[in-house]
Amino acid sequence: MGFPEQRLRRLRATPALRRLVREHRLEPADFVYPMFVIPGRARTEAVAAMPGVERRSPDLAAAEARRAYEAGVPAVILFGLPAAKDPEGTEAWNPQGPVQEAIARIKDAVPELVVMTDVCLCQYTDHGHCGVIRDGRVDNDASLERLAAMALSHARAGADVVAPSDMMDGRVGALRRALDGDGFQHVAILSYAAKYASAFYGPFREAADSAPQFGDRRSYQMDPANAREALREVALDIEEGADMVMVKPALAYLDVIARVSQRFDVPVGAYAVSGEYAMIKAAAAAGWIDERAVVLEYLLAVKRAGARFILTYHALDAARWLEEEGA
Ligand code: PBG
Repeated sequence: MGFPEQRLRRLRATPALRRLVREHRLEPADFVYPMFVIPGRARTEAVAAMPGVERRSPDLAAAEARRAYEAGVPAVILFGLPAAKDPEGTEAWNPQGPVQEAIARIKDAVPELVVMTDVCLCQYTDHGHCGVIRDGRVDNDASLERLAAMALSHARAGADVVAPSDMMDGRVGALRRALDGDGFQHVAILSYAAKYASAFYGPFREAADSAPQFGDRRSYQMDPANAREALREVALDIEEGADMVMVKPALAYLDVIARVSQRFDVPVGAYAVSGEYAMIKAAAAAGWIDERAVVLEYLLAVKRAGARFILTYHALDAARWLEEEGA
């Protein structure tokens, strides 16, 4: 039976009917809000390539985290900008570092909020790579103990979830062993399992001051041409102990999100990255697109592809917009 008996427009006729048959819904609980933390007190700095995003000192990060929680957003993820950089990234595990301090302040201000931390050395090394350099190359195994020390310092400060984004092989296992060895069995690991070497990270590297000083990240981040390889990355990370996995970026990798979420039963996150945010902001500022409509459509599409949650710089705005729509 086809047309004229079949008419798909019947179920699109009214807002209530559309609401009834809607397959996916976006809600504030879908979002994780990324925040950049700088040293000091009562300090904010704008990020030119990401209008609306600010770097904040730990006290102001705690205030912003409270706003996120009050808007219905269940989690934040923290990125640190250290006071100093060196070849080994030692500030990454400084117990008095900005991220460690922000974790404690946020946990104090809003204990219910899930505090996640990005675990990666690129903001902390003077060469800007995600691991340490030996003989001119990013040394996988030498990086693991440093990443583990960093994750452990976040756990000691009170982090609920650590999220390794460095793409070294074996880092999930290294983090799990370090956490368990120090009494942090309850701290979860969200692995940036399928993280691509993407040009969409450009604005983030300004925000986090983490651009590589030589070469690029293609010897550790994934080739954008590969989707099957993402399934291997995810399988290995789950085997090593990842509680949740992530695909990054989101918009250009919806096929990867779909394949990963169909294949694996762990919660799958997607990262709507800085370049995606910047494109929308720029087009909206020029009056070429409707920011609110585009953001809600695009985040819904990421969810439809299979993401259980989305890391997005639009988290607070989107939560507010959804609230206004009575979502
Ligand atoms: C750190 C890290 C990056 C992002 C998240 N964690 C940058 C990179 O790998 O170059 C990018 C996030 C974004 O673009 O919003 N390794």
